[in-house]
Formats: sequence, C-alpha cells, structure tokens
Amino acid sequence: MKKGKVAVLLSGRGSNFTAIFRDSRKANANYSIRLVISDQENAPGLRKAAAFGVPCHCLPPAKFADRADQEREICVLLQKHEIELVCLAGYMRLIGPELLEKFSGRIMNIHPALLPSFPGLHAQRQAVRHGVKISGCTVHFVDAGLDSGPIIAQQAVQVCATDNEDTLSLRILRQEHRLYPRVIRLYFAGCLQIQGRSVIIGNK
Ligand code: GRF
Repeated sequence: MKKGKVAVLLSGRGSNFTAIFRDSRKANANYSIRLVISDQENAPGLRKAAAFGVPCHCLPPAKFADRADQEREICVLLQKHEIELVCLAGYMRLIGPELLEKFSGRIMNIHPALLPSFPGLHAQRQAVRHGVKISGCTVHFVDAGLDSGPIIAQQAVQVCATDNEDTLSLRILRQEHRLYPRVIRLYFAGCLQIQGRSVIIGNK
C-alpha cells in the first residue's frame, strides 16, 4: 500500500505525536511519519521522535530573522521529505502566510476543546472555569487565525463536577490520541472534502 507522508510539528511533550506514530506503524495504516519539526530545542516530543528513528529537526525562532524566515526553512524540509500532510500537535506558533499557501488544505491541528468554544491557550482550564458539562477535542484544518479553521472531527467528553484542569485534560487527551490518527487515515483515504467552512466526510 502506498503510504501518505506526514510531518508532525510540535513544541512540547509529544503525546499526540506518539499516538500518531504508533498508529502509523500498524500494518493497515495508510500513512507514515516522515519528519518531525520542533521550535523548542528541549521538547520531549523531539527526543521521542529521535528515539523512534524519525528524522527530526529543531528550528528555534531565535535562530531566524523572523517567522517568514523560519517557515521558509520549514518549507524546504517539508519539500525535501515530500510531505503531503502537516499535523500540528501541540505546536505553539501560528502558521504564517507562506507555509499556509504552500500547504493549503494540507495542515491540520488538534485542540483540546469543542471549537469554536475555548480557543487558544488553557482550553481545559477555560472549560472548567466556565462550568460546561461537555467539552472534548477538535481536529481542524489550519487557517491564519487561532484555532479557527474548518472543523473536521470532534469527540465530546463529559465534564464531571469534581473535575479540575488536570483531570479534565487527561480525559480529553485520551480521546485526542484516538481521534487524530483516525482523521489522518480519513485524509489519506481521500474521504475529506473542504467546502467553504464545512468539511464533508464521505467515501472517495
Ligand atoms: C494537546 O492537548 C493538544 O490538543 C494541544 O496541545 C496539547 C499537546 O499535547 N494542541 P502533546 O504534546 O501532544 O502531549
């Protein structure tokens, strides 16, 4: 089976990367992770990628004149590895116009809330403080805004009266690890079609 080529961009722990990587190694997976890029030298996710033998690169913003300069380097790496889909997994930077244009409709992100509720940082804390009964996670295509691109898939998670930010984060994270690989498989099966703000999920 021809496998889709995925790059993961991360800034931190890398648990979503690990879940995606593990899924990609299953016999029936239709994609493989060819590249990991981080903006943080000390990101544990980068060390995990190296341990798994995935080509990885660190591009700290301080080493570049500006975001455009850093993203030009990202584009060079993506093209060199013939990447077809970019998956943001805890990547703590907005994507700029050049990368967005070159990979239009081919960049995804996972967010730990049911968007459009609670975009941005500390989504789980926002959900607990707001007192919602249901939260969850969202995989969406990336646009120039903050967690604002077309929604592909969501998984609801119940918020308990006893929850704090940590307990809710953990319950949501378990679902993130299931949802993201599923969406990547759908992408490479040709099942995702962007129509304006909607993403239609169907058979190819
Ligand atoms: C996840 O909660 C993800 O939804 C958010 O950042 C966190 C990354 O966690 N965008 P990890 O690095 O994948 O463990």
